Amino acid sequence: MSKHTVSAPANIAFIKYWGATDIERALPLNSSISMTLDQCVTLCTAELTSGPKRRDEIWLAEADGRLTPAGPDFARRVLAHIERLRRWAGREESVRIATRNTFPAAAGLASSASGFAALTLAVTGAFGLAPSPGELSLLARRSGSGSACRSVFGGYVEWRAGEMAEEKSHAVQVADADHWDLRDVIAVVEIGPKTVSSLDGHRRAPTSPYYDRRRELLGERLDRVRGAIRDRDLAALGPVLEEEAIDLHLIAMSSRPPIFYWSPGTVDVLRSVRELRQEGLEAWATMDAGANVHVICDPDSEEEVAERLGDLAAVGFVIRDGVGDGPETEMQALF
Ligand code: PMV
Repeated sequence: MSKHTVSAPANIAFIKYWGATDIERALPLNSSISMTLDQCVTLCTAELTSGPKRRDEIWLAEADGRLTPAGPDFARRVLAHIERLRRWAGREESVRIATRNTFPAAAGLASSASGFAALTLAVTGAFGLAPSPGELSLLARRSGSGSACRSVFGGYVEWRAGEMAEEKSHAVQVADADHWDLRDVIAVVEIGPKTVSSLDGHRRAPTSPYYDRRRELLGERLDRVRGAIRDRDLAALGPVLEEEAIDLHLIAMSSRPPIFYWSPGTVDVLRSVRELRQEGLEAWATMDAGANVHVICDPDSEEEVAERLGDLAAVGFVIRDGVGDGPETEMQALF
């Protein structure tokens, strides 16, 4: 039967998607811009199976090749997305899925973005379909993990909010990975799953008294990030990155009920990044909905940044990543 394997990367948002007009279909209240990563990827194999009854299977592939059953929440979301893709494709077959992340899941490292981008690519590939990048991005968005729509592209990616109808809301690439070699040193201070999902975060965001203010500021911020990417200007990008990350967490902390994603280690890393800058290194921090800190820097500073952050007592380990080319078809299946 037809089997298709892909890898799809995580992405780190420079301008965050936080708040939706329609949470189930992930229609964003604001535009977002991200950098697609290279090393942090989800591998996914999809195989069509036939039988008297429809029976999809969802497996987690361990590094040693063993398959273990997926947890109920994750399996429910994956099954719902398979069903959505099947309806979209007008197909009947059952699907067997195995998936594996190269990085800790659910730690604010955008595992749902890479996971649902990979699932979308693997299942459409197993159906023998080759949708356009825009269509793939739209399908990935419909998984409910909106940021998955950005992981379908490599390099630097924008997902515009606004007047767009549901059937048009998808991301576009604004520059490819070769345009600007940026690195992302991820200081991992927590590996447990986060306690409040980003879906709940989107739902609660408008209850924060700071939410409307953030939306007023976003137009100018988006322009600064677009300009910094265009000009490959880290000194211009960095301050916006930090403003944006702090705002996301300010809104989370002041939502009703409040959400605290930070851990004490988050603050230690933020302090250390400031010290690195005082010593002349261009390193700037951002966080998604989690405690771990992504430190964006240029290739010349990467080694030093990784060493210094790795030495902090609060940091379990660092992941050295950088801008990547986007999803790929893989030769080696997971089963
Ligand atoms: O795509 P979701 O629903 O997992 O939300 C992503 C939220 C952030 O990671 C915090 C921001 C973003 O734009 O990636």
